[in-house]
Amino acid sequence: PRPILLTRHGESRDNVRGRIGGDTALSEAGGLYAKKLANFVEKRLKSERTASIWTSTLQRTILTASPIVGFPKIQWRALDEINAGVCDGMTYEEIKKNMPEEYESRKKDKLRYRYPRGESYLDVIQRLEPVIIELERQRAPVVVISHQAVLRALYAYFADRPLKEIPHIEVPLHTIIEIQMGVTGVQEKRYKLMD
Ligand code: F6P
Repeated sequence: PRPILLTRHGESRDNVRGRIGGDTALSEAGGLYAKKLANFVEKRLKSERTASIWTSTLQRTILTASPIVGFPKIQWRALDEINAGVCDGMTYEEIKKNMPEEYESRKKDKLRYRYPRGESYLDVIQRLEPVIIELERQRAPVVVISHQAVLRALYAYFADRPLKEIPHIEVPLHTIIEIQMGVTGVQEKRYKLMD
């Protein structure tokens, strides 16, 4: 069985300020996570010559991958974070205050709620299909460095979790979720590299 390693990017400057979306660089802690991840990946995949590193097209995932050397890196637009449309760059408090109806609709049905001029979780799940097909086809290990909403959807696919749970699955920062697909089913390990 070959592992798939799922991780969010290291903490970004927007994570620190509580802003959603955007395309900011990493915080100091996020930069430290990138180094720890590189260490982990180099040890874990030492003997795996054909492994690859997949990121989104957003800086925070590319910067998180940058200390990893010795493996090819591929950028996927389909791995970009959920598009928050008109809410991009806002905090949840700002959305609640300035767009209370949007805030309430999302709370009521987070799976189906689509941000104005943006995406819903269902949209994200749909655009991930080619990524999933390619992940299934790979014989070698893959490290996927992406974002909270996208990783919830990918994780749910491999862990066989129901659709309605997806927007609520816990995918914390600075934690690697290792998935192994064997004949007996899927095995999962989590490695928390930082607090
Ligand atoms: O806050 C980080 C983040 O990745 C945002 O960019 C994104 O909008 C959000 O998480 C997705 O999580 P939720 O669906 O719970 O708002």
